Amino acid sequence: MTQLADRVMVLGNGNFNYFIVGREEAVLIECGTSAGADIFARQWQAEKNRPRIKYILVMHSHFDHVCGLPRLKDLFPQAQTAASPAARKILARDKLKPVLIQADAYVTDAYVRNGLLPDAPGGLDIDRVQAELAVAEGDSLIVDEGLQLDIIEAPGHSPCSLAAYFPSAKAMFISDAAGYQIPDGLRSPVFFQDYDLYRETIRRLQQYPTEIVGVGHGEIPVGHDQVSQFYNRSMEAAAEAFDLIKDRLDRGQSEQSIVTELYDRYIKGAMSYYPPDLMMGSVSMLVKNVKNRM
Ligand SMILES: [Fe+2]
Repeated sequence: MTQLADRVMVLGNGNFNYFIVGREEAVLIECGTSAGADIFARQWQAEKNRPRIKYILVMHSHFDHVCGLPRLKDLFPQAQTAASPAARKILARDKLKPVLIQADAYVTDAYVRNGLLPDAPGGLDIDRVQAELAVAEGDSLIVDEGLQLDIIEAPGHSPCSLAAYFPSAKAMFISDAAGYQIPDGLRSPVFFQDYDLYRETIRRLQQYPTEIVGVGHGEIPVGHDQVSQFYNRSMEAAAEAFDLIKDRLDRGQSEQSIVTELYDRYIKGAMSYYPPDLMMGSVSMLVKNVKNRM
């Protein structure tokens, strides 16, 4: 467990970050996958000072942010799981369930194969991948001594994305709202819902006094300089990707060739453990969203 600030801790393997906000009564932010949650559970069981987890906060409905839920619910049976109304609706769709099961199993296999996990946890109990509590902009989850974690809508990456702000530590938890960090200091822009909304969300999040950015994956920016560099880089990375896609479309390149180029450029690091077909589909959303705006 790494203490990032008073009442803000992070666990996980760096590819899947799990944040604990609160000292005695706390919120667990992020759910990751079965593999991520298994790693988290081992770390948690070895911890001496464990706050009582009151809420598990689902940041959005993508498979790598929800499939850890059953394992986390086993660990924290008293906790209530909260998500945006849109995420709750998406998670209730039967059509999505096989997609989640398959993607989660793919990551688990890749983790075991690459020695990141000693053995595979049991199959995913998909009917437990759901949230009983809806939270939206303006709502707060209360942690110890009346301190609150404020819920913020953060669309652009997905329509169901949330961010959460913890004023007492100036910590902003953004999940994937500002991009996915990949090796070599690169940022993978992830405006899978909409380019303008994505940039608007980043601009909005940037307005909050922030000392910690709780990203869903990768290194956590801490301190004013790192935080402002992080957000600036997010905006630049999105604009660079937009220009690249627009350029290729203007030259008359096929969508398939653009998607392949983007895949090779952006699907690296932790994302190379994700199912290629799913990532191809996500990357093709970037092309679609640039086309929509041309
Ligand atoms: Fe995501």
